Amino acid sequence: MTQIKSAPARSGARIMGIGAYRPARIVTNDEIAPLIDSSDEWIQQRTGIEKRRFASDDETLDEMARLAASDAISDAGLNPEQIGVVLVATLTNPVQFPAVAPIVASKLGIPDPGAFDIGAACAGFVYALSTAADMVKSGSVEYALVIGAERMTDVLDFTDRGSAFIFGDGAGAMVVGPADFNGFGPVIFGSDGSQADAISMSSTWFDFRSGKIPEPPTLRMAGQQVFRWAVSEMVAVTQRALTAAGLEPKDLAAFVPHQANNRITDAIVKALDFPDTVAIARDIRESGNTTAATVPLALHALRSEGRAPSGAPALLLGFGAGLTYAAQVVALP
Ligand code: UT7
Repeated sequence: MTQIKSAPARSGARIMGIGAYRPARIVTNDEIAPLIDSSDEWIQQRTGIEKRRFASDDETLDEMARLAASDAISDAGLNPEQIGVVLVATLTNPVQFPAVAPIVASKLGIPDPGAFDIGAACAGFVYALSTAADMVKSGSVEYALVIGAERMTDVLDFTDRGSAFIFGDGAGAMVVGPADFNGFGPVIFGSDGSQADAISMSSTWFDFRSGKIPEPPTLRMAGQQVFRWAVSEMVAVTQRALTAAGLEPKDLAAFVPHQANNRITDAIVKALDFPDTVAIARDIRESGNTTAATVPLALHALRSEGRAPSGAPALLLGFGAGLTYAAQVVALP
């Protein structure tokens, strides 16, 4: 057998920096409710959402991604030229191709990086982060930039009672680089394509193009089905990620689940019996559900509150359309 040389593997990688971009415009529940015969009280009780941000025309997907990434690169103490690969988790790139990652990379001034998008919906950021960690550890790159960015307002139907009140826009980013310790536990991921209809587009672009439907397709969600799946399956997934990292709930400094619904977060926190010493991310109150951007935005918010000590272990969990999920223990940046 011919011997193929591999890159020298590294013993450790870690998250070196984190950044965020939140659109300027704050949208309250009262602004959303009249179109869907709802109320601020109902939305807060059923989800925990108090407000969310909606992007303006200038706050394009690549611009929000660029601003979050630039913040993360500075936080890591690096220059854009040092980044070897850019991964963007998103489901709201306004074009099917090219991917948004090379465009963001070019605008950041990163010369000739590997660049690609990851489509795993609300689990996308954790998928991308674990991929980046593996690339750094395998020696494929030295520094990887991971971005979760969404303009959910581009795919929302503001009159759909099942989804219009949930989603928001924004971007978060992290930089992964070499470390003299292991900053990532094993990733636990999976999917259930048999439930792909639970969160999907109302139709295909081809139906719109051929005139079969009068308006472009929008997001549709079978809320109860997704809720039941998340509550019944994500407890075990969270536990598996902890066990795989050799930790117990008391060892964690923070739990950063996808910000889909505070009641889903509550169910997981209760089932795993997290002690009060574990900071629980509740950014959904401020940002709603920003799909692939929730995990970095929620961690960024926790850190701004002084509740995410550098180097301490945190458990990240993403889940959503697909139905996809990914969970991983990481050392905080
Ligand atoms: O990010 C991807 C992952 N996404 C998720 O994990 C989302 C999971 N699902 C959910 O978070 C919840 O299912 C929703 C927040 C979407 C909905 O909450 P729910 O508690 O499942 O509501 P429901 O559909 O069971 O409806 C309960 C009641 C119904 O009234 P009755 O039959 O009890 O009288 C609905 O008609 O609430 C009513 N309702 C509403 N009322 C005011 C449903 N939607 C609304 C609304 N405003 N928007």
